[in-house]
Amino acid sequence: MHTIDRRAFIDNSVLDIEFDRVFHPSWQFLGFAGEVREPGDYVVRMLGRDEVVVIRGEDGEVRALHNSCTHRGTRLCRASLGNTAHLRCSYHGWTFANDGRLVGVPALRSGYPPDFDHAGHGLSAARVTSRRGFLFATWDPHAPDLEEYLGEIAWYLDALLDCGGGEWEACGPPQRVRAQGNWKIPTDNFAGDGYHMRTTHQIALDQGIYGDTLANGTRGRAGTDLTAVNIATPAGHSVRAGYVIDSGSSLEDRDPAAPQFPGYPPERWAELAAAQTPEQVRFTSHCEVAHGVVFPNTVFLSVAHDRAVGEESDPLTRYLVVRSHVPVSARETECLYWTLVPTAMDPQWRRRSYRFQARTQSAGGILFEMDDFENFARIDDALARSAPGRGGPVDLTLGAGLGTPARDFPGPAQAEVATLSEHNQRAFYRRWAALVGELP
Ligand code: FES
Ligand code: FE
Repeated sequence: MHTIDRRAFIDNSVLDIEFDRVFHPSWQFLGFAGEVREPGDYVVRMLGRDEVVVIRGEDGEVRALHNSCTHRGTRLCRASLGNTAHLRCSYHGWTFANDGRLVGVPALRSGYPPDFDHAGHGLSAARVTSRRGFLFATWDPHAPDLEEYLGEIAWYLDALLDCGGGEWEACGPPQRVRAQGNWKIPTDNFAGDGYHMRTTHQIALDQGIYGDTLANGTRGRAGTDLTAVNIATPAGHSVRAGYVIDSGSSLEDRDPAAPQFPGYPPERWAELAAAQTPEQVRFTSHCEVAHGVVFPNTVFLSVAHDRAVGEESDPLTRYLVVRSHVPVSARETECLYWTLVPTAMDPQWRRRSYRFQARTQSAGGILFEMDDFENFARIDDALARSAPGRGGPVDLTLGAGLGTPARDFPGPAQAEVATLSEHNQRAFYRRWAALVGELP
C-alpha cells in the first residue's frame, strides 16, 4: 500500500467509521496507574468516541466507567481529575459508587416500583488492563487480551523500559493540547518519519542540541547520519530505532562486551546492561533515538541528548515521552503527553530528562513540536480546501523495496535497515485500511 485517499484525513464520515472499526476493537492507552494511585482517584479520558472516568475503586481495582448517567444520559463527571467515593448526577441526583454500581436514587421508595433493577443501571465499564503501569482499555468484549494484541511490539517496549534500569514514573498529569489536523497525521509521523528531520527540524538541529556537528560542517546525529532500523508488525504497531555507530561500521560491529546507552551516565552502563537480557542489549546499545506507534493512536519517543537546551553543565540525559492522539473531529486532535522517568536515575538526571522533553518535544517547547504542528496544520489546510478529486492520494512510497533485512536483529518481527523509509507508515496504513475497508 503506497497511497491513502485524501478524504481519510478530512472527512467526518470517515472518522465515524474509524470509531466503529478501528478504535472500538483496539486497546487504547488511557494513562498510568500512578495517576490513580489511591481508592477514589480518577482522571477523565477518551476511549474512542466515549468519555470514560478512569477510577480506582475502594476494592483497589482500576475501571474505565462510561461518563454518562444511566437515567437520562447526563455527563456525570465534569472535572478532569480528582478523588471521589461517588459520582453524583447533576440532573436528578442518581449516585454511583466508584466501582460503577448505582447506589443512590432520590425518591426510590415513593417513585419507583419495588422491583426497580439497580444492578441493571450501573455504569458501563470497558475492559482495562494494566501493563507495567500503562493502562490500556477497550470496549470490545471480543478483543484479544492486551498481550496478544500488542504481539511483537511488546518486546520492544519492554526493552526500552528495561534499559532504564527498573521502574518508571510519569512526571505529573499529561499536558493536553488541541492541534489542527487529523489524528493519523502526527501518528504516522511517529511511526517512522526520519525524512522530515532535515527540513522541518533544521532550525532545531542548528541550535546544536545534538552536538556542534552542524557548526563545524559535519553532520548532526538526528538526521540522515543515523543507521535506522524499522520494525513494523501486521497489527500496525511499529518502532524505528536510530543508532550512532562509527563511520564504516555496521550495526553488527557493535561490541557486545562494551554496550553504550546514549543519554544515560556512562558510569552506569554496566549496571543498565545487567538489568536487560543480552538480546535487549543488542537492541538498546548505541540506540540514540527510538520512536513508534502502538496501533492505533498511542505513540512513544525516546531520545538521547547531550546538549540540553539551557543546561550548559553536565547536560547528559535522555527522555521518554508517551503520547495519545485523540480525535476530536476529522480535522482536530487532542494530544496528551506523558513524560516518563526511570526511578533508578538520580533526581538531577530525572529533572534534566523532564526539562529536555518539556523544552523540545512538548506543546510548550521551543523546538520540534512547534515545527511539526505547523506542518500538520498546513496539511489539514490544503487537504480541506481542495476540490474533490483534486491532488491525488497521499503518497507513502519512500524506501519501498529498498530496505535491507537487518542481520541478526535480536527482536521479533521483520526488521529492515533503511534510514529513510516509510516502511512503518505503510504498515500502519495497511492495518488501518484493512479495518476501515472501502471509503464511502
Ligand atoms: Fe442523571 Fe437523571 S439524568 S439522575
Ligand atoms: Fe518532528
